[in-house]
Amino acid sequence: MKRYRSLFPVLKKFTFLNHAATAPVSLRVSKAVEDLCKSFTEYGGLHYSRWMNRVKEVRELAARLINSKPGEIAFTGNTSEGLSIVASGINWQPGDVVLVSYPDFPANIYPWLNLKRLGVKVIYIKRKENGVFKVDDIEKLITNRVRLISVSSVDFSTGFLCDLASLGKLCKEEGILLCVDAIQSLGVIPMDVKEWGIDFLAAGAHKWLQSIPGTGLLYVSEKIVERLAHSKVGWKTVEDEEDFSIHFVPKQNSEKFEPGTMNIAGIYALGAALELVFDIGIENIRNRIFSLNDLLFRELTKRNLTVVSPMEAGSRSGILSFSASGNNERLYRYLVENNIIVSLRSERIRVSPHFYNTEEDLGNLLFVIDKYTSGTELQ
Ligand SMILES: Cc1ncc(COP(=O)(O)O)c(C=O)c1O
Repeated sequence: MKRYRSLFPVLKKFTFLNHAATAPVSLRVSKAVEDLCKSFTEYGGLHYSRWMNRVKEVRELAARLINSKPGEIAFTGNTSEGLSIVASGINWQPGDVVLVSYPDFPANIYPWLNLKRLGVKVIYIKRKENGVFKVDDIEKLITNRVRLISVSSVDFSTGFLCDLASLGKLCKEEGILLCVDAIQSLGVIPMDVKEWGIDFLAAGAHKWLQSIPGTGLLYVSEKIVERLAHSKVGWKTVEDEEDFSIHFVPKQNSEKFEPGTMNIAGIYALGAALELVFDIGIENIRNRIFSLNDLLFRELTKRNLTVVSPMEAGSRSGILSFSASGNNERLYRYLVENNIIVSLRSERIRVSPHFYNTEEDLGNLLFVIDKYTSGTELQ
């Protein structure tokens, strides 16, 4: 894994342990975008069909990442857009209920609250302090008015990984749609929309996938796509989109959610980022991150710092959040001043290493924490 470090110049300046926020991109990603921009400058739009071939390839890569078909993937700008496409495409009836994990990142809450104007009620699936909720807890909330359940695969604050296989099974038994905000798991946790019975999955690509901000994916199962209305419409919505005579025959697959000219640079970046993920192997990435987090857990526990993140198989993810006694915000600022890049979330320190991080990187973090707790730097 270490050999990949040279692809990430950010590591020369910082101990970067913050991939659950906005992650650095690799030199492969920046080269893909630079080459494309060069072609924009020299050829304008003359390479359009070349771009579209690459879009097709990247769609195939994205589909492979979650075990879907390429036609079930739409490119979006971010997670919020994907979730909004789902929320605005369902033929809601007054009194319908959506169950949503809570607390959660607002991207997975506001699109559902926005349905209040249609008479749709949002009921929260409440997490415990460590982010956990069980499928049994959800079962108790089910009534015949529940139409959709939307959860984050991984909680942005605690790192709790939802048991999507059991939740998908429950949803199928009850005839409820399952929607997943997967931004905190794509690129770390192997995902399988078919095996788990997921109907919709949305994610941005600027975290664990390490692509440039402003590109995302939306998966809509082919079983449901016909019933999900396309709320944004443009020239690309239709079959034979390059025939500009008016023929409003919308596409039958998830490409109908892409209304116009695409974010080609973002898609090229995503293609290079996905190729890197497949070169390394998603299981290898996960295992490496888990072993780094195991080490960090042991060291923090030795220091009597409280790790809030679940660490058991099936509930853990790439995120490890902990609390120091006293003021976490002050510790956070101290870490950043010392070039240790982590986040402060829910008043805790959130660490999110990636596959190329090393034991030495964790050593740097622990060294600065020790300096802080010994108090010598705070006089
Ligand atoms: C769970 C979750 N969803 C969504 C987002 C981001 O949403 P978007 O891709 O719309 O910017 C984040 C983090 O920024 C997040 O942690």
